[in-house]
Amino acid sequence: MEQTLVLIKPDAVVNRKIAKVIGRFEDKGLKIDAMKMVWIDEELAKEHYKQHISKSFLPRLISYITQAPVVAMVISGPEAIKVVRNLVGATDPVEALPGTIRGDLALDLDSGNIIHASDSNGSAIKEIELFFSDEEIYSY
Ligand code: TYD
Repeated sequence: MEQTLVLIKPDAVVNRKIAKVIGRFEDKGLKIDAMKMVWIDEELAKEHYKQHISKSFLPRLISYITQAPVVAMVISGPEAIKVVRNLVGATDPVEALPGTIRGDLALDLDSGNIIHASDSNGSAIKEIELFFSDEEIYSY
């Protein structure tokens, strides 16, 4: 079993898409080990997106991810990191295939790509630690 961090981003929260996004993971059979609403501040945003520190899109990304709360989740299942990334689809919703979360529920990068999912085992471990304490993550 593997764990991954998922954030339902502010555009999805504001546009009432939380249930639809969570439903995709539950329909697949993945398990939610932890879940909470978090209003990300600038410091947390910069830490979370540290690998993009020199990118020109960073200021826009920081203001997007801090504009309203996110729903943070730890999701688990067999090869959960890869399985969740496959369900999420390509970064740019214009490129994301129908059937994926971004392909079905998001329009383009300007309006937001509605979801974040860890892209490797290393980032999953760091990102889970950034958003959750051990006590907030349940085994059941
Ligand atoms: P990235 O980690 O490359 O994508 P993903 O979220 O699919 O893992 O980028 C992080 C976020 O940065 C991405 O979700 C949207 C934003 N972004 C842009 O706005 N423009 C870009 O050209 C890229 C690559 C990302």
